[in-house]
Amino acid sequence: MREAIVTKFGSPDVIQIQDSEIPEPKAGEILVKVSYSGINFADILSRMGIYPDAPTPPFTLGFEISGTIQKVGRDVSGFKRGDRVLGLSKKGGYCSHCCLTSDFLFKLPDSVSLEDAAAIPVTYLTAYFTIIHPGALRPGEDILIHGAAGGVGTAAIQLSKIRNAGKIFGTASDSKHDFLKENGVIPISYSENFVDTIKNQTDGQGVQIALDPVGGKNLMQSYKSLSSGGRVFTYGISSMAQSKTKSLFQMAKVWLTYPKFDPLKMIGSNKGVHGFYLGSFNDRPALERAYQDLMDWTQEGKIKPIIGKIFKLEEAAEAHHFIQDRKNIGKVLLKA
Ligand SMILES: NC(=O)c1ccc[n+]([C@@H]2O[C@H](COP(=O)([O-])OP(=O)(O)OC[C@H]3O[C@@H](n4cnc5c(N)ncnc54)[C@H](OP(=O)(O)O)[C@@H]3O)[C@@H](O)[C@H]2O)c1
Repeated sequence: MREAIVTKFGSPDVIQIQDSEIPEPKAGEILVKVSYSGINFADILSRMGIYPDAPTPPFTLGFEISGTIQKVGRDVSGFKRGDRVLGLSKKGGYCSHCCLTSDFLFKLPDSVSLEDAAAIPVTYLTAYFTIIHPGALRPGEDILIHGAAGGVGTAAIQLSKIRNAGKIFGTASDSKHDFLKENGVIPISYSENFVDTIKNQTDGQGVQIALDPVGGKNLMQSYKSLSSGGRVFTYGISSMAQSKTKSLFQMAKVWLTYPKFDPLKMIGSNKGVHGFYLGSFNDRPALERAYQDLMDWTQEGKIKPIIGKIFKLEEAAEAHHFIQDRKNIGKVLLKA
């Protein structure tokens, strides 16, 4: 089998392809022949050495795959050789074969392609758990999505539309603003004061939900862009990753600018701050409900992953450069 390994923390060029034996599934595990691996920003932070959950190198990158079951280990029920699946993996999904526990594998409906399947898990589940539940965006409510043209961002646009959102505001690099407009989003530049833009366009009210994967001082601005009753979801630290290698100075700068929310002021302003991390989300019934909704909506044509570019597994380093050069619109995949 082939896998993309982080040999040491650093720039994308530390990623190397290695050959090794195809693993045998242990009890409770299933061996999947991987078709596509999704790339997430968490992989980039892991490679740089600033992701809190990242193992020490050498390790295989990747949190999600789609593929076909090749072998089922002991004590597994409900899956068989040949089933098409998508899977969440903490052990590394940038590979041609991987063993996953059945708890985090989901069978695919026939009409969902393996390509689309690899683009769904992390991005759409993150958008789901912030917009649908517990975010509970109601019809007509306005939303702000930071990084709106990225993987989670494009998923969030689609789920906002399922909820019949009012105005959808999205920050992105200027080169992606035409794409946002075509998708019904009001684009906002990173250089703009987005609180003012939003207040001007919502009669001074603000948005009901803000999705903030940027962190640092941006989080307070997102909070300020909320209306009464609004809630901001904080789920990322992308402002700590301004360069392609870890910078303790940049991390400290961002960390020091994180807002300290005052609960008494929050009571008075009817606003909420909500954290989300899929990596520690282990409510299996909620995951299954979300998965079922996402598959139903995919089959009904209500959602369709936007896949910006597919690289070969061997091109994992180029794919990381592509995302960190801020070139991606939508999801980036690796083909095994
Ligand atoms: N907590 C969780 O469970 C969870 C789960 C999934 C994702 N996330 C977070 O959500 C965010 C989006 O994740 P994703 O995987 O979908 O990534 P992505 O949006 O597909 O890729 C990153 C994009 O973010 C924008 N960006 C903003 N600041 C950046 C920076 N400092 N360096 C590079 N790009 C930057 C870039 O586009 P523009 O410049 O055009 O905006 C870039 O294309 C990330 O912060 C990620 O860590 C969190």
